[in-house]
Amino acid sequence: MSLLDVSVRTKRFGGEGQGGEAREGAAPVLSDVRFQLAVGEVLGLVGASGCGKSTLLRIVAGLDPDFDGEVRLDGRTRHGPDRDIGVVFQEPRLFPWLTVAENVGFDLGQGHDERWVETLLDEVGLRGLGDALPRQLSGGQAQRAAIARALYTKPRVLLLDEPFSALDAFTRMRLQDLVREVARAHHTSLLLVTHDVEEAVLLSDRVLVLGAAPGRVVRRIDVPLVHPRGRGSAAVADLRGEVLRELERQQ
Ligand SMILES: Nc1ncnc2c1ncn2[C@@H]1O[C@H](COP(=O)(O)OP(=O)(O)OP(=O)(O)O)[C@@H](O)[C@H]1O
Ligand SMILES: [Mg+2]
Repeated sequence: MSLLDVSVRTKRFGGEGQGGEAREGAAPVLSDVRFQLAVGEVLGLVGASGCGKSTLLRIVAGLDPDFDGEVRLDGRTRHGPDRDIGVVFQEPRLFPWLTVAENVGFDLGQGHDERWVETLLDEVGLRGLGDALPRQLSGGQAQRAAIARALYTKPRVLLLDEPFSALDAFTRMRLQDLVREVARAHHTSLLLVTHDVEEAVLLSDRVLVLGAAPGRVVRRIDVPLVHPRGRGSAAVADLRGEVLRELERQQ
């Protein structure tokens, strides 16, 4: 059985009434998006700007209950956010008044496990910066803190929405490797939204290409390459080309 089972029949914004299927008028943003995620699997999600990737991620994260369909984790339908699913957004979204360590260990209603926070800070390369405030961090460091925070609840699935797009090329490469390593160490499954097709191919076991208006899965491309994958390798370039051609067809 898969760990995560996503089935979005319809998602619309605006209009009246409850539930996506009841809406008339507003055009669907997502239609018939179905996929599964196995334990430890990395699934890349690519598609043109505005095709509905962030909308889909918010649904999977439990942040948007207003859709027709269901998200199952371990076979159970989920309603609302939960500790088994962590999210990393494009920008770090740290609380500016809390220290880095307090941000990482911020977990409503739960105790603050200092040793676990230290371990996570170590893992993401922020050792010694636990007492710093977010404004004292660089963009890359802040995004590392956001990754550590998302891992704090030991989620089984980590959702990443263009997590590295605001970073320089070298920081991005380091964080790509970091996320892959951390996910493997914690047996965390990843759902990675990215505009960087090479990033999708380097990190994913499978890439879903979404078409637009309405957002739907137009292609599933397996990436049967062992890790570590060479950034400049012919196999990576071939698959990158295949994904790009599919994206071009959708324009
Ligand atoms: N809260 C909202 N209310 C109304 N429409 C919305 C809302 N959020 C998103 N949309 C619309 O839904 C569509 C999908 O938006 P979404 O942000 O999911 O796209 P995306 O694929 O993440 O784009 P990008 O790659 O630019 O981040 C867009 O047409 C957008 O205008
Ligand atoms: Mg988006």
